Amino acid sequence: MKSMPLPMPALAGGGVALRPWRVDDVDHLVSAWKDPEVLRWTPVPDDAGPEKAAVWIAGARHRLETAIALDLVVVDGGGTAVGEVGLSDLDHDGRVAQIGWWTAAHARGRGVATQAVSLLARWALGPPLNLTAVLARIHPDNEGSLAVARAAGFRTLATRDNSEIVIVAATPQRPRPAGIDPDVLAGEEHKTTQRG
Ligand SMILES: CC(C)(COP(=O)(O)OP(=O)(O)OC[C@H]1O[C@@H](n2cnc3c(N)ncnc32)[C@H](O)[C@@H]1OP(=O)(O)O)[C@@H](O)C(=O)NCCC(=O)NCCS
Repeated sequence: MKSMPLPMPALAGGGVALRPWRVDDVDHLVSAWKDPEVLRWTPVPDDAGPEKAAVWIAGARHRLETAIALDLVVVDGGGTAVGEVGLSDLDHDGRVAQIGWWTAAHARGRGVATQAVSLLARWALGPPLNLTAVLARIHPDNEGSLAVARAAGFRTLATRDNSEIVIVAATPQRPRPAGIDPDVLAGEEHKTTQRG
């Protein structure tokens, strides 16, 4: 299938909402890039400062229009930025995408990631994208994100005990997606994205 610009969804529920990145989100992103947990589990640029953050934020529209990624800020009920969630590595033929996320340190432990991941994954599995699966690639030692994925309705699709990747697919209301080869997917995990 030919790549089409990705739609920008308007999603909210469970005390959070998802919105596009804005220029005034630089501090939110830079803070996350300095956070030890984000540094440990997600690929953060070497020169992760305000300039890099501004460039990355400015590129979000282009990534959307070229179907490279859908990057969203998670905000709480008061409009404060509390995290990030996004889709990347879209396979338009297989109708599969990867999902990634982080929660700002000050907002952890209150369901932010679970709600954000649930909202975006459910949306991606329905119209207009109608993906057959949303995949999260999580290090087996990343207990927090494994818990988030499970709480958001994902289930394990493939694991690699002696390596770094656990693959789970979001199929809350669907049978196991056909045509997804875990071994093929497991070989693709090192694509560089801003998220884990
Ligand atoms: C992991 C992370 C996303 C959790 O965010 P959060 O908003 O605090 O998560 P939630 O409040 O939605 O928690 C969901 C579940 O995970 C559990 N959990 C959260 N962090 C945990 C941790 N560090 N260890 C064990 N369990 C954890 C919660 O207890 C909760 O469990 P429950 O459903 O049984 O109540 C956050 O710590 C983070 O940003 N980590 C660094 C980035 C990262 O790992 N990104 C993903 C890369 S694949």
